[in-house]
Amino acid sequence: MAKKDVKTASSKGKKAPVAAKAKHRAVAKKSPAAHPKTTHAVHTAKAEEGPKTAPSTKEAKPAKKSAQLDLSKSPEYLFKTFNDTSEIPVSDKIVGQVIGQERAVEVIKKAANQRRHVFLIGEPGTGKSMLGLALAELLPKEKLVDIISFPNPNDENQPLIRTVHAGEGRELVAKARIQTSQVFKNQNILMFILAIIAMIAPWWVRSYYKSDIMFAAFFLGGMMFLAAFIIFINLGKRGSLGKGDSPPKVIVDNYKKEQAPFFDATGAHAGALLGDVLHDPFQSGGLGTPAHERVVAGMIHKAHKGVLFIDEIATLQPHTQQELLSCIQERKYSITGQSERSAGAMVRTEAVPTDFVLVAAGNLETIKNMHPALRSRIRGYGYEIYMNDTMKDSLENRWKIAVFVAQEIKKDEKIPPFSKDAVEDIIEEARRRANRKNHLTLRLRDLGGLIRAAGDLAQEKGDKLVRKEHVIGAKRIARSLEQQIADKFID
Ligand SMILES: Nc1ncnc2c1ncn2[C@@H]1O[C@H](COP(=O)(O)OP(=O)(O)OP(=O)(O)O)[C@@H](O)[C@H]1O
Ligand SMILES: [Mg+2]
Repeated sequence: MAKKDVKTASSKGKKAPVAAKAKHRAVAKKSPAAHPKTTHAVHTAKAEEGPKTAPSTKEAKPAKKSAQLDLSKSPEYLFKTFNDTSEIPVSDKIVGQVIGQERAVEVIKKAANQRRHVFLIGEPGTGKSMLGLALAELLPKEKLVDIISFPNPNDENQPLIRTVHAGEGRELVAKARIQTSQVFKNQNILMFILAIIAMIAPWWVRSYYKSDIMFAAFFLGGMMFLAAFIIFINLGKRGSLGKGDSPPKVIVDNYKKEQAPFFDATGAHAGALLGDVLHDPFQSGGLGTPAHERVVAGMIHKAHKGVLFIDEIATLQPHTQQELLSCIQERKYSITGQSERSAGAMVRTEAVPTDFVLVAAGNLETIKNMHPALRSRIRGYGYEIYMNDTMKDSLENRWKIAVFVAQEIKKDEKIPPFSKDAVEDIIEEARRRANRKNHLTLRLRDLGGLIRAAGDLAQEKGDKLVRKEHVIGAKRIARSLEQQIADKFID
């Protein structure tokens, strides 16, 4: 989810990109349908959660012919009476879109209220990432902050860390910039004047002494003087920057974000997760960039007051898990260079706040391989949830699959609505994939793939409604790799 800015649910446009980097695995797997869109919609939504959302007139766009259903009626009644999915209103909140995971949804709501960590264990495509986004969306709108690193006049290698209200960080830095630039402006004017003198002087000397040798001497002398002057000024600039008058740097920027951030740190390397101090090859000559400007916040810092989501948490290096544990306990973590041989390793900032809610995801194998202390921490200060992978084949749950179809159509934005018999065929497929008598599968990402394939087929044919025949065609086309290989053997 999160992919578009997965990161994020957090910033309407920006957060996801950051998170996305870490997300290669998930990105590859996920459908383009993506939460980010959803997320975005969620932010702006006033609607109440759950499928009980009042039908919005906007949503009814594709359904000019058919009015939206009244969701206060029973699911059984709704399932029996609907004609096509354009009549089904879709919740604007992610938490209202999660299907078949009632217990998980309940726990996510509780975790959002109490700021508890959550560990989601379950099959792929059952909604774990979705629940993480839902949690970020539900987090109480605490005041977000910007985090800023300042030069430390007493110890250049220990930059100072301060927090200000979200949005104020940029202003503060802009003000500091103006002050320093004033000083340098005067120096620049001086340099300009000197440069002109150095240019004119040789010519004047030439006409006065009528000697080319004097010209050459003055010319070379002038150039050397200028070069020395520039080096001198730059040394002074660097020197003073390190000593405390260089402008601060915003390392966590929540400018114009009204919603709790969501960062997906799946597969992130240590630097991206824990923050880093960049290497500076000029460090020893005094020409380098001051330490506080080389500080880069990690996702644990950017997710401050929001959600840090980590799928397959056991794949993080044991050392990284250990550090993660310590920042969960302390709710703060100093940034230092991650590479031992870099100049950044000398630098260690004051503690930077990391008060996030951790949503860890994985399967049973993950539990075995993850750092035991980390798991016990999550268990002790949060919830563990085992995701459902099937649900009973009842009328009520069939209706949920119909709602799911409507949701996927809305997310996709391109495919036409499904007729009732097409939905019934999807339900039939959900029954088949459940591998359990009288149950429907909840591996909904895969089922979403079938919905999109059927939609594409209908669209190719120019049909305004996806019908049963499209779903049957899609089943044939969208066979999994394993099925295709099996087909080959049977042939
Ligand atoms: N319970 C659900 N309710 C509604 N939609 C779902 C549900 N589970 C999955 N989906 C659909 O499948 C997509 C992928 O789900 P999600 O990324 O949350 O799965 P996941 O459990 O995180 O999978 P993975 O373990 O592979 O990361 C969602 O964007 C959504 O469209
Ligand atoms: Mg996921």
